[in-house]
Amino acid sequence: MNSYVNMGVGAFLGTVFVLMSVSIASEGIFHAPAPEKEGYAIVAEESSGGTGGGEAAAAATPIAQLLASADAAKGEAVFKKCTSCHTGESGGANKVGPNLFDVVNRPIASHEGFSYSAAMKDFSKGGAEHWDYDHLNYFLEAPKKHVPGTAMGFAGVKKETERADLIAYLRTLSANPAPLPDPAAAPAPTN
Ligand code: HEC
Repeated sequence: MNSYVNMGVGAFLGTVFVLMSVSIASEGIFHAPAPEKEGYAIVAEESSGGTGGGEAAAAATPIAQLLASADAAKGEAVFKKCTSCHTGESGGANKVGPNLFDVVNRPIASHEGFSYSAAMKDFSKGGAEHWDYDHLNYFLEAPKKHVPGTAMGFAGVKKETERADLIAYLRTLSANPAPLPDPAAAPAPTN
């Protein structure tokens, strides 16, 4: 009788001992130190944008102001990134992408003979939207992010001054370049 009790107590204590060891050991294995800052440690993707919410970075400089000091000659060099897929001269062929002559203020997804993706047609809102400076600036920053599903396989021109140079160059691809926007009319930068 006594020995049964002893065995019972022994077994019980043994179990407790094992459970305690396991919990101490797992504490050591699984215990993660608290992060220094609350929330997720996600490294922001480069300098601008990156909210993923489809909205341009709030702090971005308005394109009207950037264009005031943009350099079309530098933009021509940037445009080399585009020429594998786009021509820029009048009457130039559509390649992988549509010809970009006179693209500034052209209705989005409207170039003759080019078959646009459904995403780009959506972005054009049935042809109501044009490639004004704001749209170009927005799209070219991150084509796949701002027009999800676009057929344009290009990462984007992230640096805003480089993008402004490029857009200043795109503007020259025209017999009648569109007027530059008035930088004074643009909303003041928030700083
Ligand atoms: C890998 C090929 C490729 C590269 C590189 C490329 N594009 Fe494109 N681009 C396309 C394609 C394809 C489309 C059509 C997109 C669609 O229908 O979704 C397009 C569409 C466009 C449009 C819209 C034109 C319209 O008629 O609505 C603009 C503007 C544009 N590209 C500018 C550029 C600029 C500027 C560059 C260089 C910085 C560039 N692209 C680089 C393939 C490319």
